Amino acid sequence: MIFEQLFDTKSSTYTYIVSSGKGREALVIDPVIENTNEYIKILKNLDLKLVKVIDTHIHADHISGLNELSKRTKCSKIMGEHSSSEVIDIHVKDNEKIKIENIELISIYTPGHTDCSYSFLMNDRVFTGDILLINTTGRTDFQSGSSYDAYDSLFNRLLKLPEKTLVYPAHDYNEKKYSTIENEKNNNPRLQVSSKEEYAEIMDNLNIENPEMMDVAVQANLKGLTLDQL
Ligand SMILES: [Fe+2]
Repeated sequence: MIFEQLFDTKSSTYTYIVSSGKGREALVIDPVIENTNEYIKILKNLDLKLVKVIDTHIHADHISGLNELSKRTKCSKIMGEHSSSEVIDIHVKDNEKIKIENIELISIYTPGHTDCSYSFLMNDRVFTGDILLINTTGRTDFQSGSSYDAYDSLFNRLLKLPEKTLVYPAHDYNEKKYSTIENEKNNNPRLQVSSKEEYAEIMDNLNIENPEMMDVAVQANLKGLTLDQL
């Protein structure tokens, strides 16, 4: 299997390129528009045919490369059914299969960071977007987020996955590349709570500033801007 994890230093975003092997179909998760040429180069070097691109949610801290990649490769654009993006080709529901050659992802609706956030399970690993991060969790105070929904997504969906499942988030700010469900369950300070109310109390009092690019990024991602429109 080809599994490339790429890091955008400006927004600390992780982007993933997945394929069953050289010369086969590929899928990209959470691309950053400025890095499109890098993705295309990797795809070319591995002789991969990009057929699907997924955004886990409408990002607020960077402009997604979803529409630019689709424009350049004709791949299908996928988000969850709650996404308000104007350029999505395939809206997935909870527990739906997304297939490319020899690879299958299962969608898990995990609202809370935003109301359109999905996670995607691929065998031994799960792409968690910004709902579950390494040693922390995604904020819930904008973009129709909800600390109560986040609690449900975390405790009743993601933490119920097998403990050895690898966790690959959309961001990390401490140079950590992945975690496991077991590690997050036992060590993530935000997850050491005993009730929904306790989690909401933490999340509703974080008082963090909005991302610098928030207004620009959200609007761009709803419209699905391409490089020539920036
Ligand atoms: Fe986010």
